[in-house]
Amino acid sequence: MRCLDGADINDQRVGLRLDLNVPIKNGTILDNTRIIASIPTIEYLLERNCKILIISHLGRPKEDTFEQKYSLTPVCDDLSNILGTKIKLITTLDDAFQSNEKIFLLENIRFFIGEKDNSFELSDAVANTIDAYVFDAFGTAHRKHASTYGVIQKCSNSYAGLLVEKEVKNLTKALFNFRSPLISIIGGSKISTKLGVIQKLCDISDFIITGGGITNNLLLSKGFQIGKSIFEEEMEETSRKILANNNILLPDMVIASKSLSTQGSLKSIEDVESDEMILDIRISNEMSKALSQAKTILWNGPLGVFENENFELGTKFLCKSIAELDDCFVVAGGGETISAINKFISTKDISYCSTAGGAFLEFVEGKELPSLEALGFKRGEEKND
Ligand code: 3PG
Repeated sequence: MRCLDGADINDQRVGLRLDLNVPIKNGTILDNTRIIASIPTIEYLLERNCKILIISHLGRPKEDTFEQKYSLTPVCDDLSNILGTKIKLITTLDDAFQSNEKIFLLENIRFFIGEKDNSFELSDAVANTIDAYVFDAFGTAHRKHASTYGVIQKCSNSYAGLLVEKEVKNLTKALFNFRSPLISIIGGSKISTKLGVIQKLCDISDFIITGGGITNNLLLSKGFQIGKSIFEEEMEETSRKILANNNILLPDMVIASKSLSTQGSLKSIEDVESDEMILDIRISNEMSKALSQAKTILWNGPLGVFENENFELGTKFLCKSIAELDDCFVVAGGGETISAINKFISTKDISYCSTAGGAFLEFVEGKELPSLEALGFKRGEEKND
């Protein structure tokens, strides 16, 4: 993969694709982790006297339609505060590098015609505005858009930024160069969205701990009554196939409740009633034992509805157990997973927290990520990294 190390980038006008897609409510940024994670590459470029044109998306706006709630204005303010310098928010590519500022931020690239279609025209227009392109938006590396693919291909001098390098290095370590035992933890609501990942992880993990709707599907396939719990009917056969891997650890006790607003009760998986929903699991002795012996852990997705204290038991216990491990390489990814970590422990307790959600899952699954591919990354070469 073409990286910044050794690239001749001094004094250039650099286009920098970041993933500044952060949660914003009423103009206030709720979590600026992705902004903070982008700072090292910005500083790296400033130290080399580059002028920078930052490009990012925010949410999923309609093309060619400005909507204030998708504006990067709050991001621009936060970034200016962090860097201690005024960053200019511009709405057209023609405004880039037109004044003395060192850093320009282009308004949400998804407002631009051709971004999502990876149009030749938009890629060309960006490439013609800059001397070099740095892609540091790992969270969007699975999107084949103009700013995440077309421009990388167009610019002969396009490079991966420091965050992308770090993400690839850490995910590679957990997936390809790991120390055994490897324990994978896959939670979340829908089994269908994590199918490829579970199948891939079944092959390489010593044990897999599941939670959320995924567990409901697996319990149902094993013949347990799951009452009104969420599950996906069409995943029945797939669940049975997954269970054929005898490294899946299922809970023996769950927290079931008639509604999200009542407390629920801890009970055996055999005792869930027809009008109840499984909303959390208790970590079993078998799961605890596996966790305590793990040398590598890969985690995506909470085990229950952890935002509600009635259903936080499994995810909280999992967080605490991981925080106590002292010789284990732990990689976690996905927005909900990082929120759980921030709620019950700290990201400092985790060896590496990925900034990506969908891209994290696709990388784990073994899919080719268009941005990485355009940067010259090849699967199979990871072991030599
Ligand atoms: C994310 O939040 O996962 C990335 O920013 C990608 O966003 P998208 O799913 O809207 O492409």
